[in-house]
Amino acid sequence: MNPGQILRKIRQEQGMTLVTLAKHASLDPGNLSRIERGELNIGFNLLEKLSSVLHISPIVFFDKDSSYRNSSLESKEFIQNFRLSAKFINQFNNKTFVIALGGEVFDENQFKAIAYDINLLYSMNINIILVHGIRPQIDNKLRGTIKEAALVRNIRVTKKEMINDIVEVNGSIKTNIEATLSSGILDSPLLNSNIKVSSGNFITARPIGVIDGIDMEFTGQIRKIDTNAIIDKLINKEIVTISPLGYSPMGDIFNLSYEQTAAHVAQAVKAEKLIYYINTNGILNIRGELIPELTTSKAKQLIDNIEDPGRAPFISYHVLNIMKSSLYAIKNKIEKVHLINRNVDGSIIEEIFTDRGSGTVLTEHSLQDIRPATIKDINQIINIIGPLEKEGILIDRASKNIDKEIDSFYVIEHDHNIIGTVALHHYKDIIEIACFAIHDKYKNLGYGKKLLKFCEQTALAKKIKNLFILTTQSEHWFIENNFKLSNKKIMPDERKKTYTSERNSKYFTKRL
Ligand SMILES: CC(C)(COP(=O)(O)OP(=O)(O)OC[C@H]1O[C@@H](n2cnc3c(N)ncnc32)[C@H](O)[C@@H]1OP(=O)(O)O)[C@@H](O)C(=O)NCCC(=O)NCCS
Repeated sequence: MNPGQILRKIRQEQGMTLVTLAKHASLDPGNLSRIERGELNIGFNLLEKLSSVLHISPIVFFDKDSSYRNSSLESKEFIQNFRLSAKFINQFNNKTFVIALGGEVFDENQFKAIAYDINLLYSMNINIILVHGIRPQIDNKLRGTIKEAALVRNIRVTKKEMINDIVEVNGSIKTNIEATLSSGILDSPLLNSNIKVSSGNFITARPIGVIDGIDMEFTGQIRKIDTNAIIDKLINKEIVTISPLGYSPMGDIFNLSYEQTAAHVAQAVKAEKLIYYINTNGILNIRGELIPELTTSKAKQLIDNIEDPGRAPFISYHVLNIMKSSLYAIKNKIEKVHLINRNVDGSIIEEIFTDRGSGTVLTEHSLQDIRPATIKDINQIINIIGPLEKEGILIDRASKNIDKEIDSFYVIEHDHNIIGTVALHHYKDIIEIACFAIHDKYKNLGYGKKLLKFCEQTALAKKIKNLFILTTQSEHWFIENNFKLSNKKIMPDERKKTYTSERNSKYFTKRL
């Protein structure tokens, strides 16, 4: 549509006559009619005036791909992302997240941005427990004094004379958290509302004991958590903050690891998620690339590799501690533990409200699965292949016949969402790979290769060694995956009957 046609469509849909629009835009109705018929061009000033009368963005007059309703590329993306994230909003209603923050976020001024996001989660009726660390603050306080601590296996030996300093730095962090969360953060959803933050003596601790022959004195481990007291506060809609200090029944104070405290608290309150902020995007592999998902068995292998004295460590001791605490949490029924970047604004929102996430998620079992499709999957499959049919990338009978052919379909899922699909049609000694597609949001992440590998394994399991595919636009992808361009004459006769030559797709085969 040209700008004039778009203008007419918008005007009519808004129920406005040509004369009324001309009047509001201070135009001659005759000229407006000529503009709508494409006989007169719209100048920039006029365009702005018409857009303002019609309450639309001027960009819609030039948006070739869509109707005027999609007011701009930016808003299109926003709408799509909002729709994709909406499902999570219900999913997490009244669920509990334990969020663990190392002391570094307070020294490096990152807490304000994090507090904004915590505020947002709280406003969505998610129960929040914040577990914070104080390690760098203790280091600063003791540095250069005679109280400077010895480390055993990277754990601080806490001497009695340090306790007052530890309690003092802990107090100032707690005050910082309470003040930042309760002071109205500008633009925050809870500005002017009375957000309640509370803390308490929820943790009973005991000494960790002797490590490598050294008495760790007031370095403690968790003995008991007052779960009911925490839950009461959550029911009362309070954000609960928990410090890495525990108290013994005899009145001693113990210094705890905040990483372990967070995992134990998550276990005690049966949290939906445990989230650790770290210094990188997530867990990185030896090449420094993000590992988006890690099963517990893979995490254990990774820990063994890192701790192998023969190998150079490529993950910090801090992240290693977090991985161990995460494994403890997963073993104790926390389904997902997330490691996200404290240096990236909004990393928690991206991690929780998008399918791809921002960091690493640790789980017992892989979030990915390839399985046969069922009738219930039809809508999601059509969402993936429908747009490709319209573009002529896939043949358009595919989605019409999908209910009859559902037994040939497989889907690849990520975290219970269908992100790709394939249909395998079995001919005498060859299998056709059809409707092979990955959802746009998940392209170039290796899912296509995984799905292809699955097709190959399925064929081999059926003792079939030949595959073929008809493609119009992805020939290079298949060539890179060892398919060869072949003559259509060798296509199975049965398939030739339904083959539509006008699509002019190319015939590729692969011998397994
Ligand atoms: C073709 C398709 C299945 C690939 O899936 P994918 O998950 O995006 O691919 P992978 O992540 O496994 O592979 C990514 C690599 O393939 C390349 N690639 C992706 N689509 C390609 C295409 N159409 N042609 C050539 N190369 C392509 C990427 O550039 C990337 O290369 P790199 O690793 O060098 O950066 C996917 O792009 C798709 O759904 N296409 C539309 C449907 C289609 O054409 N189906 C085939 C006919 S039935």
